[in-house]
Amino acid sequence: MKQENPYSSLRQLEVPPHADAMIETFRAIGYNIQTAVADLIDNAISANAKNIWVSFDWEGQESTISILDDGCGMTDGEIIEAMRPGSKNPNEQRDSKDLGRFGLGLKTASFSQCRKLTTASKKENQVAYWTWDLDYISQVKNWQLINLEPIENQLNKLSLLSSGTLIIWEKLDRVVKNTYEENRKDSDSFYQVAEVVKKHLGMVFHRYLETHKIKIFFNDREILPWDPFLKGFEGLQIIPDIIQNGLVSIKGYVLPHRSKLSEEDYKKAEGSNGWNAQQGFYIYRNERLLVAGDWLGMFRKEDHYKLARIMVDLPNTLDDAWQLDIKKSVAIPPNYLKEQLRSIAANIRNKAVEVFRHKGKVLQRKYSNSQFYPIWQEKIRHGKRFYEINREHPIIKGIIENLGNSQKNINELLRLVEETIPISLITIRESENPEQQGKPFEASNHDDIKKMIGDMYKAQLKNGKSEEQAKGYILSIEPFNLYPQYVETLNN
Ligand SMILES: Nc1ncnc2c1ncn2[C@@H]1O[C@H](COP(=O)(O)OP(=O)(O)OP(=O)(O)O)[C@@H](O)[C@H]1O
Ligand SMILES: [Mg+2]
Repeated sequence: MKQENPYSSLRQLEVPPHADAMIETFRAIGYNIQTAVADLIDNAISANAKNIWVSFDWEGQESTISILDDGCGMTDGEIIEAMRPGSKNPNEQRDSKDLGRFGLGLKTASFSQCRKLTTASKKENQVAYWTWDLDYISQVKNWQLINLEPIENQLNKLSLLSSGTLIIWEKLDRVVKNTYEENRKDSDSFYQVAEVVKKHLGMVFHRYLETHKIKIFFNDREILPWDPFLKGFEGLQIIPDIIQNGLVSIKGYVLPHRSKLSEEDYKKAEGSNGWNAQQGFYIYRNERLLVAGDWLGMFRKEDHYKLARIMVDLPNTLDDAWQLDIKKSVAIPPNYLKEQLRSIAANIRNKAVEVFRHKGKVLQRKYSNSQFYPIWQEKIRHGKRFYEINREHPIIKGIIENLGNSQKNINELLRLVEETIPISLITIRESENPEQQGKPFEASNHDDIKKMIGDMYKAQLKNGKSEEQAKGYILSIEPFNLYPQYVETLNN
C-alpha cells in the first residue's frame, strides 16, 4: 500500500550527515579492543564460519589486525552493502542464530580501533574487496569506498578457502600510537593487549568453543574456552532451570569451595577480572556472552558472594525488551522480570555464602570445640567503643612471652597501634569501594601463611597434642580459620 506523504505540499531539503564529522562520532561509541574484535567474530559466526583466524601482526605504527573466516562469504555487491553504515534496519526480523542486530557493528567496531578498514571476501569462486580509509573520507568529505587490493599474502589466505571473509584493520592509531617497531617495550605491550583480547574471546564464545561449533585461532594457536560455571568439578551446585515465558532461561550455580579445587584451577576459575568481579549474572544471547558477572544494579559485589554465578539465556527476539546495545556488552532486564531475577539471585547468593563459610566451620567442628581467638576485639571504655589487639591470641601471646624484659616496649607499641587505627578513613574507603579492600594475606604470597600454619602445627604436636587437636586449635585462630584448605592437608 502506498503511504501518503503528509508533507508533500511543503518545501523540503535533503540534509545528509557530514561524512567526516559522522565518522569521528562513530569512533566514540565506547568499544574497547576486545569488544571490537568480538563484534567481528559475531559476524563470522552469523555467516556460518567453522574456523576463524585472528592475527595481531606487530610492525610498530604499521601494525595490523586481521580476522579471517571460512563462512559463506560475500559477493562484490554484498560487501558494498556490508560496508554501508546502517546496512540493516534494527527492526528487521533476523534468523534465530544471527548475532547481529543494528547493521553497524563491522563499521563501528573497526573504526573504534583503526582508520582503515578493508573487507575482502570470496563467494562463488570470486574474490572482491572494498576499503574505507577515514583520512580519505575526511579529505574528500564524502562516503567514498575505495577498490584497493589487499597485500598479496593476506589475500592468498582468503583465496585458499572455498568461501570466506577477511577483515583487515590498518592505521591502528589507538593501539599503536607513538610506538616504534624496534622498541621492545612497545612490542611487548602490543602482545599484552593481544593476550587480553584472546582471553576475552575464550570467555565470550566459550559455549561455541566447548561444543566445537567453531574454532578460533589466535596468531595460529587455538583459543581454549573459559567456562565461568566450572561444569564437571566436584562440589559444584546447580540450581535447576527456571523458565520465563518459555523464552528466558535462568540457571544458578554455586561454585565449589576453594578447598575442592587445585591452586591452578582456582586461579583459572577467577577469570580475567578476579573472583570478586566475576560474580553475578552471566547473560547470553544465542549462547554468546553479553554480560560477564554483574548484579545488574540489584546488589553489591562482596567477597562472600563470589561463588555465585547465574546463567541467563536470551534469544535474539528479546533484544528490544533487554535494551541490547550496539557493542553487545550491555543488557538490561525488563521491569516485569526484575523482581523475579532479584529473588532468584538472593536465593543463590545465600547458598553461595553457606559454601563460602561452611567448609571452615565444618572443619572446626570436626576437629575441636575450643574457643575462637580473634586478633582484634571490640571494647567499651567509659561508654566509648575502642578496638584492642587480643593479648590472648596464641601468636601474640607467644611473641610477648618470648620477649622477656622487653615486654613493656611491645605493649607500648600495641597500645600506640590500637589508639591510632584510622577508623574513619577505613570506614569511608569501605563504603566507597568495598571491592578494593584486601582480605588478610590476600595480596601476598601464601607461602608465608602456610609456613606459619606449618610451624604452629609442629609446635602443637611437640606439646603432645594429637593431629586432630592441633588442627582444631589452628582453625580456631584468626586468620588461619580463613585457610582451612592448608590446615586440612597438614601431615607430619
Ligand atoms: N564475516 C562476514 N561474513 C559474511 N557476511 C558478513 C560478514 N561480516 C559482515 N557481513 C554482512 O555485513 C552485514 C553488516 O555487518 P555489521 O556487523 O555492520 O552489522 P550486523 O552484523 O548486521 O549488525 P550489528 O550492528 O548488530 O553487528 C551483516 O549483516 C552481514 O550480512
Ligand atoms: Mg555485526
